Amino acid sequence: MAKLSIIGAGAVGTSCAKWAMVKNVAEEIVLVDIIPDLAKGKALDLAQSSPLFGYSGKIWGTEDFSAIKDSKVVIITAGKPRQPGMSREDLLNINKEIVKSCAEKIKEYAKDSIVIVVSNPLDAMVYVAYRVTNFPKNRVIGMAGVLDSARYRYFIAEALKVSPKDVQALVMGIHGDLMLPLVRLANVSGIPVTELLPKEKIEEIVKRTKFGGGEIVSYLKSGSAFITPGLSVVEMAESIIKDEKRVLTCSVYLEGEYEISGVFLGVPVILGKNGVEKIIEIELLPEEKESLKKCAEACRTLINLLNM
Ligand code: LAC
Repeated sequence: MAKLSIIGAGAVGTSCAKWAMVKNVAEEIVLVDIIPDLAKGKALDLAQSSPLFGYSGKIWGTEDFSAIKDSKVVIITAGKPRQPGMSREDLLNINKEIVKSCAEKIKEYAKDSIVIVVSNPLDAMVYVAYRVTNFPKNRVIGMAGVLDSARYRYFIAEALKVSPKDVQALVMGIHGDLMLPLVRLANVSGIPVTELLPKEKIEEIVKRTKFGGGEIVSYLKSGSAFITPGLSVVEMAESIIKDEKRVLTCSVYLEGEYEISGVFLGVPVILGKNGVEKIIEIELLPEEKESLKKCAEACRTLINLLNM
């Protein structure tokens, strides 16, 4: 009997709850928000959709954090989203306090849970949760790589007019402009993308992927993407709850892997019932290594600004 808790009943939190229901990831889904009645209203709306597609579990909302007790996975989505013209980094101080208070509640009420952080700037916020909960590193994970890789895969599929299902590709590094969409590993049913698309088109796709979140912010005018971010985090939660051992790019604490230490960065990992069960180290080309080092430096700068 798995229980999934989602902190923050904003757009991303509600999207997580919706996808978790649709994918039948947990028998109990709890949505928590400090704003009185907000989570209750969102969860009730979701619950009322369950007869239409047949979710038999329980979904409910509350402002009482003790509701997260006994969760297998707790997702932190609380925090301010970007507005047009803002970078994710502009949210650092405001979201630091929000994520800190969520992490304190998780430590108090769900000390055996696995925590997935979604709030931005992602790689710094997951560090906040790691420090505040003091949980082992396999149980504190950031969601970004699944989302960035989905965007990358979609743009490749769109350019080739093929099914996005057949496109595999990964984006490593920081969840920011320095992220690293790997070109040489991108493929369509095993066929390297470099054989299917001209270099200039690939470069354009890489660039669009890096600014994929910002493009949506610029269209929405208020707030950021929430549909694919919600599904991305549910993919991770599902792999943990169902012990699927999926290989997904997640922001995890590095201690020497890829010759990087003391920061959270997106790298491919195996996700199972213990959270991060293995960090997969792949051999990188010198220029890829260099890009990943730059991501690590950027993340370290953010961590230093946190003063914790
Ligand atoms: C994005 C936000 C969730 O990339 O960071 O859309």
